[in-house]
Amino acid sequence: MRHLMNPLDFTVEELDELLALADDIEANPGKYAHACDGKKLATCFYEPSTRTRLSFEAAMLNLGGSVLGFASADSSSAAKGESVSDTIRVISCYADICAIRHPKEGAALVASQKSSIPVINAGDGGHQHPTQTLTDLLTIHSLKGRLDHIKVGFCGDLKFGRTVHSLINALIRYPGVEFVLISPEELRVPSYIRTDVLEANDIPFVEMVKLEDAIGDLDILYMTRVQRERFFNEEDYVRMKDFYILDKAKMAMAKDDMLVLHPLPRVNEISVEVDDDPRAVYFKQAQYGVYVRMALILTLLGIQV
Ligand code: CP
Repeated sequence: MRHLMNPLDFTVEELDELLALADDIEANPGKYAHACDGKKLATCFYEPSTRTRLSFEAAMLNLGGSVLGFASADSSSAAKGESVSDTIRVISCYADICAIRHPKEGAALVASQKSSIPVINAGDGGHQHPTQTLTDLLTIHSLKGRLDHIKVGFCGDLKFGRTVHSLINALIRYPGVEFVLISPEELRVPSYIRTDVLEANDIPFVEMVKLEDAIGDLDILYMTRVQRERFFNEEDYVRMKDFYILDKAKMAMAKDDMLVLHPLPRVNEISVEVDDDPRAVYFKQAQYGVYVRMALILTLLGIQV
């Protein structure tokens, strides 16, 4: 039995196969419409979500399976003090596969250790968000045509942004990838990413504060939200929440084929005036999330079509 805790749980070859399967699902959805007949997906979300939970549910429904679960800790027995370990042992009796999101780092790993069904980490605190990474990789691969030899700018909250940490970890395995890390001083990437991931693997990167200084050179701009829920103090959040706003004037400085990705939800960091720019692909990215989660469910359940 296999779980997904971290994007690095898959080798590059396995990721290539997963992305190829997602491509085939996009091209031939009918072929997969009954692949999971009789199977059940549990979505156990202890933290709010729109895309991840609903795209998992759409993915399983598209495959002919069924879904069950809870959308907040308050609507589960966690509110009465039940542990994640006990909950997953029970869910294992009801479902064939489980996607779990939890505010605590490592909660999905704990669940996987007690589970008798495959567990997918759907986000654990500020740590990892591997299925968002699969979505991002599929989006870049489909729209850019490659994952190697690209300059990727990450902009916003690089300290708490788990999607950023996961995607950096995944992209360093491809040759010729360079990073521009754009953030306020207080929200720079954690030192374990800078030292243990980037420096330890000799990956070229620079850290900058101003988006205007970086945007002209980028192949991919990955915008992120400043996450209110990760701040200890409202004053700091208010000071930093509008630090970056991508608007038409900044897009005019970018290459014609630069792509703008964002895991969403967005707050103010991308002006709505950018939405109609063909380089703004964040809503397409949300659609790719369904195809890649369909591919992941099939892979973890060992179903071949
Ligand atoms: N991108 C993402 O994780 O969105 P949700 O929080 O809505 O699931």
